[in-house]
Amino acid sequence: MKSVSSIFGLDGKVVVITGGGGMLAYQHASAIISFGGIPVLIDINEEVLKKNQVQLKKEHGSTVLIQKTDITKIDSILESHQNIISAYGRLDVLINNASRNPKVEESSNVNFSRLENFSEELWNLDIDVGLGGAFRCAKVYGSYMADSGRGGVILNISSDLGVIAPDQRLYKVAGLSRDMQPVKPVTYSVVKHGLLGLTKYLATYWCECGVRCNALSPGGVYNGQNEQFLNNIQKLIPMGRMANPNEYQGAVVFLCSDASTYLNGANLIIDGGRSVW
Ligand SMILES: NC(=O)c1ccc[n+]([C@@H]2O[C@H](COP(=O)([O-])OP(=O)(O)OC[C@H]3O[C@@H](n4cnc5c(N)ncnc54)[C@H](O)[C@@H]3O)[C@@H](O)[C@H]2O)c1
Repeated sequence: MKSVSSIFGLDGKVVVITGGGGMLAYQHASAIISFGGIPVLIDINEEVLKKNQVQLKKEHGSTVLIQKTDITKIDSILESHQNIISAYGRLDVLINNASRNPKVEESSNVNFSRLENFSEELWNLDIDVGLGGAFRCAKVYGSYMADSGRGGVILNISSDLGVIAPDQRLYKVAGLSRDMQPVKPVTYSVVKHGLLGLTKYLATYWCECGVRCNALSPGGVYNGQNEQFLNNIQKLIPMGRMANPNEYQGAVVFLCSDASTYLNGANLIIDGGRSVW
């Protein structure tokens, strides 16, 4: 049995992170490297992948593998899977982190975000990335882990908006008529709630093969939001503030490592208490 001081170790474990070019993926990858793991970043956007790769090299001295991958396409996932297995010969953790999150504030001119105007095309695209992508990656990487004999971990990144409704008052712009007011799109709620269903399904599906699955539901992260938004959202959070980008790193290490071997099908909500109020 491992000693408690070593259970957070990720030594040699290969961790695939979807949406690997994004803001939080960087933090997940950095935490994984710090605990001895080997992150692999996959993303549709090669430019942001390279940016995270360069930054991780600066911070940790190691060059992480990046793979341009569109998770709406099974062939693209299969191709990067082959490359990852060729490079490392193993795969231990999948973090389904990618999602589409068009900036709500930018929508006021086109008014696309409101339910009345929300297009079928956007609905399909958001669901195809956030939910379909997680399904396809679980299919490819989860099956591999289940068949490997070593088991593994799937971690789905949901959101506080996976357990509560968005408070649309947060996105209100003074002076705009009701039909022009931007809102958090319906797909964000549907994807994030859906990921919790997928988590429970996957938690039981490959249990006998040693693959467990949990969700992490982060609250909002500081990312250059305007003062009015910050003033409004902090009133909804018992701790009175949003999260710093690195405040989910401990949870990611916990959820991916042997520190959480008996945790399965759970949703760890880290939101400064927002969903408690
Ligand atoms: N940032 C927050 O405040 C916050 C709060 C709660 C939950 N989350 C969730 O955490 C996760 C990461 O958030 P973030 O802020 O770092 O997001 P981000 O927008 O910085 O990164 C998302 C990444 O997904 C990639 N992506 C989009 N479509 C893709 C596709 N078809 N194939 C592969 N990659 C694709 C994008 O290129 C992008 O790099 C998301 O699921 C988000 O919903 C974020």
